[in-house]
Amino acid sequence: MTRVFSGIQPTGETHLGNYIGAMRQYVVDQHHHESLYCVVDLHAVTVEHDPEVLRERTLQMATLLLAVGLDPEVCTLFAQSHVPAHTQLAWLLECTASFGELRRMTQFKEKTATGGEGAARVGLFTYPVLMAADILLYDTDRVPVGDDQRQHIELTRDLAERFNGRYGPTFTVPSGFIPEVGARIMDLQDPATKMSKSRSSPQGKVLVLEDLASVAKKIKRAVTDAESEVRYDPAAKPGVSNLLSLLAVATGGEPAALAERYEQYGPLKADTAEAVVELLRPVQECHAELSRDPGHVAAALTRGAERAVELAQPVLERAQRAMGFLR
Ligand code: AMP
Ligand code: TRP
Repeated sequence: MTRVFSGIQPTGETHLGNYIGAMRQYVVDQHHHESLYCVVDLHAVTVEHDPEVLRERTLQMATLLLAVGLDPEVCTLFAQSHVPAHTQLAWLLECTASFGELRRMTQFKEKTATGGEGAARVGLFTYPVLMAADILLYDTDRVPVGDDQRQHIELTRDLAERFNGRYGPTFTVPSGFIPEVGARIMDLQDPATKMSKSRSSPQGKVLVLEDLASVAKKIKRAVTDAESEVRYDPAAKPGVSNLLSLLAVATGGEPAALAERYEQYGPLKADTAEAVVELLRPVQECHAELSRDPGHVAAALTRGAERAVELAQPVLERAQRAMGFLR
């Protein structure tokens, strides 16, 4: 059976891009493949963080994943730090990756653009290697992610192939799965850049748990362009195309076909706002209910980690033996 693995960071507040580009796919995949989903708390300490906030957000992210529809009886949901094999394998892979290839990672360049490389945590630099370990530990075939993770998936494949070439067949070489529509939800105020936890302004991003009246308002105020033609053309018309992508995802349609139904931006915005509100409403209701019982979520994470350890340990040992460690 195909094995699916994905990870999501418990940093910042989860926005529509995270939900549409990644989480929504997890929910579908869990019913078709053997799936593991991981709250990657170790990745969250690669930038400045507050320990108390990290604790809260790890539980919040797990709660949200259950609220969007992950079923801990169907998939394996766990916290990365609960499975020591992730960091153990990461070291073996750090000694497989080269300095030069990590240097080329766009995310590292972006995140150090303002503060400079000098002050960046070493973990921020080696972050993609830990991500590769996450994936390779579970003999993963398919990794559902948004478009911004493409380069990290490529690195994971390169590391798996290099390791297999040097030390003999050890890892399954995974493929990224990036949805055709919604893999890159754009900032509502600056549609040339992606909606981002850290870089988007409050008006530019919609949070999954945001008040629904505010969600509708932000979408109705989304920046479009000076023309008036409704057409799906992400390069030339990023704002309008972003609205069409949101509408398509929320209603199950095709962005280009939906465009033909509209002559003006106003009705497109109104319909998109309503569709997104209806997409988020059940998630928020379920989240409110789950939040009343944090013990239930914590217990689900504990069970998930037990299962993850069982799967990860033999793969870690396989890699250790291949690399020459006594076992
Ligand atoms: P992060 O917030 O970086 O932990 O991302 C969690 C998941 O959401 C990853 O699979 C990302 O690729 C995806 N993602 C983040 N931002 C967007 C966006 N603007 N559009 C679509 N997917 C996104
Ligand atoms: N780097 C990913 C992000 O920022 C999160 C992540 C960590 C991940 N480990 C992973 C995604 C493994 C997929 C598979 O979104």
